[in-house]
Amino acid sequence: QAAPAGRSATGGEVGPADARHQQGAFLTTATGTRVSNTDRSLKAGERGPTLLQDHHLREKITHFDHERIPERVVHARGAGAHGVFVGYGTAETVTSAAFLAKDVETPVFTRFSTVLGNRGSADTVRDTRGFATKFYTSEGNFDLVANNIPVFFIQDGIKFPDVVHAAKPHPDRDIPQAQSAHDTFWDFVSLHTEAQHHTMWNMSDRGIPRSYRMMEGFGVHTFRLTNAEGATSLVKFHWKPELGVHSLTWEEAQMLGGIDPDYHRRDLADAIEAGAYPSWELGIQVFPDTPDQFFEGIDLLDATKIVPEELAPVQPIGRLTLHRNTTNFFAETEQIAFHVGHLVPGIDVTDDPLLQTRLFSYVDTQLSRLGGPNYNQIPVNRPHVPVNDMFREGFHQHAVHAGVAPYQPNSLDGGCPFIPGAGDRPFVEFPAEVPAARKVRELPASFDDHLSQVRMFWHSLSPVEQQHTIHAYTFELGQVLRAGDQGAAGGAARRDRPRPRHRGRHRPGARRARQRPRAAADDQPGRESDRQGVAGRR
Ligand code: HEM
Repeated sequence: QAAPAGRSATGGEVGPADARHQQGAFLTTATGTRVSNTDRSLKAGERGPTLLQDHHLREKITHFDHERIPERVVHARGAGAHGVFVGYGTAETVTSAAFLAKDVETPVFTRFSTVLGNRGSADTVRDTRGFATKFYTSEGNFDLVANNIPVFFIQDGIKFPDVVHAAKPHPDRDIPQAQSAHDTFWDFVSLHTEAQHHTMWNMSDRGIPRSYRMMEGFGVHTFRLTNAEGATSLVKFHWKPELGVHSLTWEEAQMLGGIDPDYHRRDLADAIEAGAYPSWELGIQVFPDTPDQFFEGIDLLDATKIVPEELAPVQPIGRLTLHRNTTNFFAETEQIAFHVGHLVPGIDVTDDPLLQTRLFSYVDTQLSRLGGPNYNQIPVNRPHVPVNDMFREGFHQHAVHAGVAPYQPNSLDGGCPFIPGAGDRPFVEFPAEVPAARKVRELPASFDDHLSQVRMFWHSLSPVEQQHTIHAYTFELGQVLRAGDQGAAGGAARRDRPRPRHRGRHRPGARRARQRPRAAADDQPGRESDRQGVAGRR
């Protein structure tokens, strides 16, 4: 008797060989042999010892021993759902991407995340949120790997390990802490003025969203679109939630961290189960593709800058609706692999030095996180179109490739170089001009203005929002324990000394603040409960 068929992670029917839902009338080994007893190991007599011969015991324990895979190095804590994207057709003037054409329906999977906490950390901490969507389009997968904050901490991807090291738990004690209750994070921010813009968004109410359903999403970088005539435009992607943008108050976030640390995950799943499907409009800000790639004096390649919507309104181009919860969290939410290089014809990248590093980083990390080069064969990552990539073998190869000539062109398997025919639309990189230049490590002078948009963001907040932001800075800086410039050896000794009481009052960016004695946070009211409620769970 064959085990009954089930449903694949992406929703389609799968055959008996893939049916691992384990609800049949009997248990089998991994290779399909019926098992008589899975509750008692094979022993030499009732009192043992256990026999090495018990291959079912060894198979069961060995598989269990290897159940865990590494969590994502960032964005480890997340929740996802399936849905559908419907194009409005309004983007046709700027892009030929087929999934953006009018009324085209494209299946999608969206994963929301916090950035810094581990897989078991609390949902309502103050942090940036990820908002990544995989579109299974008729022209291959397109991934929009976005955040809920429109700018980033750094301008050059080579600094990504530095900002993440600064924001993750201190390496000596590995005490998980909320992003900003963190000596090294504030040390980094005080030494990198380009981080101020993202940081102020984090300290505003945007850092504690009420629900994933009530978050905006931003592609952050500028992308290049190409229309059917080959004309190009520069764009920034925006997700606008149908329910509007709402945040928790700090007190709500603190309490939820203790009472219901899975609050956002539960909220998303419950809403979908109840039929209250969350929905977002996808929009673009469109800029002329000028040689300098500036718009109204703003360098479009600088990921620490926005373009105000007053200067370039967001134009709606389609709607995303999430309507189906996952069947298996591990198979879908955990194994999904997003990559900014998953592009389709009509959408291309720009030379933003942050985006350029991301083009390398996602594949590289997934090679180890998902166990080798074949992770795009995992059901949730499979495109919904035929794949003919000539990739062979490697760990976890599931395909049975036929033929003898895995190379192009060949004269044995009927292979030939790609000859475009009518209707064929390969992805072709836009032949952007690279100006004759010498090799440099410097960034352009236009990246030097780190503060004018921080000021602009501050003035865009209402008085209540400004007050919340002041409280957030005061509270978070009040958690900073260590003085700067103490050297490695001084750290442990200083930690044990009594410190003068001092509420954090440093101005962001003020080096002077680093030389002051830091707060003796342990004697601050609320400190312990704050740690346990939010930071302690990370
Ligand atoms: C996840 C690298 C900047 C959004 C990740 C992961 C890495 C990474 C290694 C884990 C991926 C995985 O294990 O599958 C980088 C680097 C960056 C950068 C090197 C800068 C150079 C950004 C920016 C955004 C962003 C600017 C937003 C626009 C995300 C999201 C995820 C993620 C949403 C989670 C994807 C998921 O849900 O699986 N990033 N990142 N990252 N990153 Fe980035």
